[in-house]
Amino acid sequence: MTDHPAELHERRILGTELLWAFGVGVLIAATLSVIVFTALTRDINPPSNVERIDPKTLHLSGEFAEQNLGTTVTADGGVTVRVIATQFMFVPRCIAVPRQRRVTLRFATPDVVHGLLITGTNVNTMVVPGFVAQVHTEFPRSADLLMPCHEYCGLGHSEMWATVQVVPEDDFKPDQDGRVSCAQR
Ligand code: CUA
Repeated sequence: MTDHPAELHERRILGTELLWAFGVGVLIAATLSVIVFTALTRDINPPSNVERIDPKTLHLSGEFAEQNLGTTVTADGGVTVRVIATQFMFVPRCIAVPRQRRVTLRFATPDVVHGLLITGTNVNTMVVPGFVAQVHTEFPRSADLLMPCHEYCGLGHSEMWATVQVVPEDDFKPDQDGRVSCAQR
């Protein structure tokens, strides 16, 4: 007994649908594996550090008090940079970081949503009131890099930017408190 033409037609539709479903499945799997791979090997991932901070008091005491801002080297050699993003400047306006060494950048804001990127690096994050934005990176070569605010935050938004001074390891000299500031040039 031969198949009814309508039945053949149905079967062909099912075949095409399965083929497309398979193709889409492969694409989704490929996309997910690229995301996981880059996140694990190249520190490229969504800035999803859920760490709360009170925007009303962050500048008064604790981690983001004025004397703690900028670059700090801890006893174990870890480099952490703390920056406040506020209307309409970054505090401090210039940060010094060592070349070819892992650096942790931590940002907080007391007012509105800001965003920032550092040109030529994987650093690109939002800075949302109530949360600490944290990014890990490594700067491959010495340069003065631009760090503009990239989220419209008010009338002075276009004036809001900082400089990242990437210096060779020999020129990166913490003082007795483990602090490093930008060299005057
Ligand atoms: Cu801060 Cu735009």
